[in-house]
Amino acid sequence: MKNYYITTPIYYPSDNLHIGHTYTTVAADSLKKFKQLMGYNVLFVTGTDEHGQKIQQKAEENGTTPKEYVDGIVKDIKKLWEILDISYDEFVRTTDLEHEKTVQKIFNQLYEQGDIYQSNYEGWYCTPCEAFWTESQLEDGKCPDCGREVEWTEEEAYFFKLSKYSDDLIKLFEERPEFLQPESRKNEMLNNFLKTGLEDLCVSRTTFDWGVKVPFNSKHVVYVWLDALICYISALGYGTDNDEKFKQYWPCNVHLVGKEIVRFHTIIWPAVLMALGIELPEKVFGHGWILFEDDKMSKSKGNVIYPEPIIELYGVDVFKYFLLREFTFGQDGSFSREKFLTRVNSDLANDLGNLVSRTVTMVEKYNGGSIPEPTKPGEFDEDLKELAIDVANIVEAKMDKLNFSGALEEIWKLIRRTNKYIDETTPWILAKEENSERLDTVLYNLCESLRITSILIRPFMEKTSDEIMKQLGISNKNISWEDSKKWGIIVSGEKVEKGKPIFPRLDIKKELEKLNAANDKLIKERTKKNKKVEKEEEVDYITIDDFDKIDLKVAEILEVKEHPNADKLLILKVKVGEETRQVVSGIKKYYTPEDLVGKKVVLVANLKPVKLRGEESHGMILAAEEKGNLTLVSTLEDIPSGAKIE
Ligand code: ME8
Ligand code: MG
Repeated sequence: MKNYYITTPIYYPSDNLHIGHTYTTVAADSLKKFKQLMGYNVLFVTGTDEHGQKIQQKAEENGTTPKEYVDGIVKDIKKLWEILDISYDEFVRTTDLEHEKTVQKIFNQLYEQGDIYQSNYEGWYCTPCEAFWTESQLEDGKCPDCGREVEWTEEEAYFFKLSKYSDDLIKLFEERPEFLQPESRKNEMLNNFLKTGLEDLCVSRTTFDWGVKVPFNSKHVVYVWLDALICYISALGYGTDNDEKFKQYWPCNVHLVGKEIVRFHTIIWPAVLMALGIELPEKVFGHGWILFEDDKMSKSKGNVIYPEPIIELYGVDVFKYFLLREFTFGQDGSFSREKFLTRVNSDLANDLGNLVSRTVTMVEKYNGGSIPEPTKPGEFDEDLKELAIDVANIVEAKMDKLNFSGALEEIWKLIRRTNKYIDETTPWILAKEENSERLDTVLYNLCESLRITSILIRPFMEKTSDEIMKQLGISNKNISWEDSKKWGIIVSGEKVEKGKPIFPRLDIKKELEKLNAANDKLIKERTKKNKKVEKEEEVDYITIDDFDKIDLKVAEILEVKEHPNADKLLILKVKVGEETRQVVSGIKKYYTPEDLVGKKVVLVANLKPVKLRGEESHGMILAAEEKGNLTLVSTLEDIPSGAKIE
């Protein structure tokens, strides 16, 4: 069996996902189901991109540790994929130990072979995009990708020799026109990045620590994008003893990504693979954005559309159908609830829903519920048949280009053609005229066309496909795509089974209100959840008696040495009045011993003594910290050590 490997990006677990985020996964899932039906052995990898400054900040804002924070959101993301019936095979988290080890191994290898070297970074950083920019790349001083503020960054850093791969990358784009799709994105990469010359890429950070440690220098964490991209091979066990999947599935057939991250996937990623001597992926597809009424969705603007209310009200298949049918995969599209409801009514209720219910109803009414025998061909039959058995071929061609909306459009041509066939052959008149042989044939053809339809829609709407098969009385086991290219397979004599309408017609005005209310309610809930954390902290009062229990004293730092077993700790000898004692403090990142000796600081003197990494610590020194800056608390006027603070 032929293998096929599909990936989505791995998602930042920084907030609840909106419908735009689900676009990539829904598309990937349909592609997987399509390839599977065609007989491929498919592997589909997704996951979460959990490290980096953005996530660390988000966790801080929520008053929790990064790991606790991401664990919560990853759970929500997995739940959403379950609701959406996303059939991924591997879910890689960049905090998985195996992944981290692979990242370290690769970093090490690149360093040893000279593709990574140490230097200093000076430039701009966009935290929301986790991207480095040079002065000239900025647009009006802002991030050229997202338009937000950038920060000036100066730090010791490791660099990847991206510039070395410029020529090979240009060659890649020229020699393999299929590598990046749609075509239109290619010029942007060539003109904006490759032809102006690539600079080496900064691949480590030192100003925060939420990341994979650089194996030979633990002051540094690996740049999130390098960490993240490696997931596509770490998920397959690359570089471990257990690398059968890598051998079986790599090179990847298609990386599906949103347009804003094409650059990372078609410049940085291929260069890293070239450096590692790994074959390049076959294709990267950069899809467009789903906007809300032409504006970018965001919770802060209050225009974010969540998938859950839509799915709850109308079902998963309706949601997936709309996403893939309404928008052209390579282009931006604008979501509106009116568009959504209008399309559901026209394509699903009127076209497909009606066809199913008319067909099954007539088989029940005119033939006692069993599929009749086709004995009398007539006008319109050939036309219907010819179209029906050819749709699969056209769908294949469209799917080859990842043209999901085009594929669905073709399938709907058959559905509409079949509805028209009913109007042309007028079974109710055939019944009245007791032309039962012709009536039998017409009914048989309708069932057969629906059987074909139920296979064709299966990659996109599995539940609906099952339901149609059930109503037609055919099994949903061992379905093959090839069977949608054959006419005459449904068996006469089998019983149909009428069910509820699969897509009831919607009252658009009423549903608009319902949808609006449900989405607004969810936005409120999700905003409140974050606010609650802040509020609880705010109102956690203590009494003066509680405060009295804490013995705060002025202490003078006499001596400072490094902790022998910890990178972040210093061991201080402090004088408190007549007494001297030892305190261990996690401030090494911020102060050198010279900075500290002679300083007067505030000590929590009656804190129970503990051992920190083997060294006794008697008391705690107060410090103020925010976003990576820290300062020790000190007294304004000179006051002797031992003085009580109240
Ligand atoms: O970029 N319309 O993660 P992410 C369409 N962690 N697609 C959208 C969208 C919208 N409105 N909003 C987001 C990252 N997406 C990195 C990837 S891969 C090694 C690392 C898509 O959570 C977006 O384009 O910001 C991307 O494909 C996916 O959601 C995840 O975005
Ligand atoms: Mg993004």
